[in-house]
Amino acid sequence: MRIAVPKETAAHERRVALVPDGVTRLVKAGHSVVVERDAGAAAGFPDARYEEAGAAIVAEDVVWAGADVVLKVQRPAPDEVERIGRGAVLVALMSPATAADTVERLAARGVHVFAMELVPRTTKAQSMDALSSQATVAGYKAVLVGAGTLPRFLPMLTTAAGTIAPARVFVIGAGVAGLQAIATARRLGAIVSAFDVRPAVREQVQSLGAAFVEAGASAEGAGGYATALGADEQARVEAAVAGHISGVDLVITTAQIPGRAAPRLVTDAMLATMRPGSVVVDLAAESGGNCEATRAGEIVVAHGVTVLGPVNLASTLPFHASQMYGRNIVAFLEHIIRDGAIGPLTDDPIAGPMRLA
Ligand code: NAI
Repeated sequence: MRIAVPKETAAHERRVALVPDGVTRLVKAGHSVVVERDAGAAAGFPDARYEEAGAAIVAEDVVWAGADVVLKVQRPAPDEVERIGRGAVLVALMSPATAADTVERLAARGVHVFAMELVPRTTKAQSMDALSSQATVAGYKAVLVGAGTLPRFLPMLTTAAGTIAPARVFVIGAGVAGLQAIATARRLGAIVSAFDVRPAVREQVQSLGAAFVEAGASAEGAGGYATALGADEQARVEAAVAGHISGVDLVITTAQIPGRAAPRLVTDAMLATMRPGSVVVDLAAESGGNCEATRAGEIVVAHGVTVLGPVNLASTLPFHASQMYGRNIVAFLEHIIRDGAIGPLTDDPIAGPMRLA
């Protein structure tokens, strides 16, 4: 099969859907891979590396032509939709919640669309789980962004100029991103605490050396995801967060509920109790924010606290984000391509739920 990797065109997108080691695997399996010139340049993968791995480097007006499979990070822009060949397979992070128009136009062209966000969270599909791989990057980077904004050290230091107390970091939402944030903050020497509404997380938090903040609320739903809280539990959570947050320097929020706006967990009144110079990094900014003051893509200062609402943080660490995403994609292709062809996949337990058209 001919597998095409166009250069990403979305603003600030530095990732690429396939890195050279993925090319090696696909070429070894008998496929031909065409990569648009400079597709991996912003992620640290020059054209020469792709060529060594067996890809053909082609111009922007050639890459789409005749492709059986198109691999992308972001969903295609309107002009790109028109360039995907009839009957081709498209694999991308489609942002399915807002993709209806794009999917309709792709379906009209007979394109088979698979959304990498919809990989089932099962053991068998773990190697394809792009939400986890990109959340790992985001959780790590959130701590670095927060540390870079904080006017103080994270670790305890004993110096000739005196002893510096370690910073306190509070992670709200301990899923994939949150656990990575906890591990990163611990490595940087901070005192870390965390909270989640899924009780099963307590042990994971503690095993990373962080303290679990108890709120007396539990909201475990299907598939290991959280559900929305009832009014009583929401009040208990807010009280627990309010009681803890005034003593911390850096807050990383990652709380999400699939298919809904992010839960509001840090109010303006809570920010007012924090020390001036404290920092909140809100990883839920794109789905409405966990913090009342968050503005997606902006830096807001409220009550002396700097609130960061980064978008697409994974793209700011493009080398490893692309390497991990590329491995997710290759694992998915290896799953769906059998004997050189992509079979009918509607009943497939992994590809079925991912299919948008
Ligand atoms: P997510 O991005 O949907 O949410 C992040 C975290 O926010 C979750 O831990 C959730 O419990 C928490 N949260 C939601 N509402 C909250 C509230 N009001 N207060 C505090 N925290 C709140 O979750 P993510 O990171 O995608 O993982 C969800 C689950 O899926 C986890 O149990 C994870 O272990 C599981 N998972 C399973 C995989 C597999 O079996 N292959 C792979 C990846 C994740």
